Amino acid sequence: MEDKIYKYIVTSLVYYRLFKLTLLHNNIITFMQKIHFDKMKVSDLNEVMKIEKANYPIPWTKGIMKDCIKTGYQCITLKQNKLIVGYAFLMVNEDESHILNMCVDQSYQSQGLGRKLLSYLENICLYHQSHVFLLEVRKSNPVAYGLYQSFGFNEIGIRKNYYKTIDGREDAIVMTKQLSHINHSFSV
Ligand SMILES: CC(C)(COP(=O)(O)OP(=O)(O)OC[C@H]1O[C@@H](n2cnc3c(N)ncnc32)[C@H](O)[C@@H]1OP(=O)(O)O)[C@@H](O)C(=O)NCCC(=O)NCCS
Repeated sequence: MEDKIYKYIVTSLVYYRLFKLTLLHNNIITFMQKIHFDKMKVSDLNEVMKIEKANYPIPWTKGIMKDCIKTGYQCITLKQNKLIVGYAFLMVNEDESHILNMCVDQSYQSQGLGRKLLSYLENICLYHQSHVFLLEVRKSNPVAYGLYQSFGFNEIGIRKNYYKTIDGREDAIVMTKQLSHINHSFSV
């Protein structure tokens, strides 16, 4: 009987150590997985639409995205190991640049990718000498709001009934960030 308990404890310990090693291994792999940003192409839109549909109850259509690409907006994909895991649509102007849509694949969220994407968009704005970075966020989206706030965006107003919801409309919080062009070195 004692032998059996002893064997059981040793086996459990071995499995526990293996489990920890696997976690460590996964963390190292994640760390080593390079991410990069690309200009979005029409041929990316099937992949992008999968992420869009999984994230929003009322998603953009492929047509809207195509129009954004054709119009020459900054349409960016975020790739990890060549796989699209996020994207953004940004309208750039000298006075004000506007984030129209930004999204990270659900299985890649909360790993810092949204912040990296936002930082990349900011660099595009700086490159184009934009002075204000602007966006709208749903009142019911505390995750995005938290990201924008911690990135230096401030709330400047509310657009009443701006967003469609399944059963009506919802207000948008308008947020801006003043962009400083001093001491910035960037590449896009
Ligand atoms: C909003 C979104 C782009 C953030 O991307 P992400 O990769 O998950 O974000 P990050 O991992 O870079 O986290 C950035 C910040 O977001 C907030 N955040 C991320 N995950 C969170 C969670 N599960 N709960 C609460 N806050 C969270 C935190 O403030 C976090 O800051 P921290 O890293 O200092 O803790 C992503 O959640 C998303 O695509 N959501 C669906 C689409 C959407 O809402 N887009 C925005 C429209 S305005």
